[in-house]
Amino acid sequence: MEYKLVTVTRDSEESRLALVTLKRPDVKNAINKAMVAELTHAFDALRESDVGCVILSGDGPDFAAGADIAELRERKALESLAAINSALFARIENFPAPVIAAVRGYALGGGCELTLSCDIRLASESAQFGQPEVNLGIIPAAGGTQRLPRIVGLGRAKELVLTGAIIDAQEAYRIGLVNKVHPDADLMPAARKLAITIIRKGGLAVRMAKAALNQSARMGLDSGLAFESTAQALLFESEDKMKRMTDFLEKKKK
Ligand code: COA
Repeated sequence: MEYKLVTVTRDSEESRLALVTLKRPDVKNAINKAMVAELTHAFDALRESDVGCVILSGDGPDFAAGADIAELRERKALESLAAINSALFARIENFPAPVIAAVRGYALGGGCELTLSCDIRLASESAQFGQPEVNLGIIPAAGGTQRLPRIVGLGRAKELVLTGAIIDAQEAYRIGLVNKVHPDADLMPAARKLAITIIRKGGLAVRMAKAALNQSARMGLDSGLAFESTAQALLFESEDKMKRMTDFLEKKKK
């Protein structure tokens, strides 16, 4: 598939780091159906590769100012029920390797929901987050009413979703929506450093840890605990575990 609205590249020094960039800067990277199709294809292709971490960002000064309102205006119930944005965001949430959102400028509506499906959100000082859907007579329905309260708590999520307020990076940090705030110029280097830290860890362990963390968030504590102990049992048989523990013990003997 030839991409027009996203780019997918590999880091020049760390080939297991993939960079996925939204590329519709003239409309603040508004997410239209064509972009969703390209992102779906891109993440499916990466899923089959050796990727250890993905950084998702926006071309230009913004991450994404929402789903494309021109398309939304024409959308009716049947198409809405196809839930294409929601399906893409679930794919990203369930992507086997960690996905880091690196957010500059606006991350509104579907753009904010897209960041919620990522594992870690880093913001630059210019970042602004919000779920302004109620201004348009709709709700955040690509996971916004479900993932946002799980990340920032029900009360804060209600305030954001019910008022459509837009908050800056520091407020997003204060409420736990983003993990860190960096000066604009430092954002991508910081995201890269974080991604490489993760890539250097046991690859199978990182994937299992992400899946276990997701499991209880999605399916509840009992299911999460059962998954966690099964995942650990598998890891105890892995070559990577044997090598890492042996390396540790042998270095100590020297
Ligand atoms: N869908 C489609 N087009 C969008 C868009 C969206 N979600 N967000 C921005 N754009 C377009 C604008 O229409 C404008 O296009 P134009 O140059 O052809 O007129 C261009 O992007 C630049 O945006 P503009 O509104 O001129 O920038 P601004 O700096 O004055 O305001 C925002 C920025 C983000 C506050 C404003 O664009 C906005 O409110 N966007 C919609 C946010 C939203 O409701 N998102 C949720 C959708 S579910």
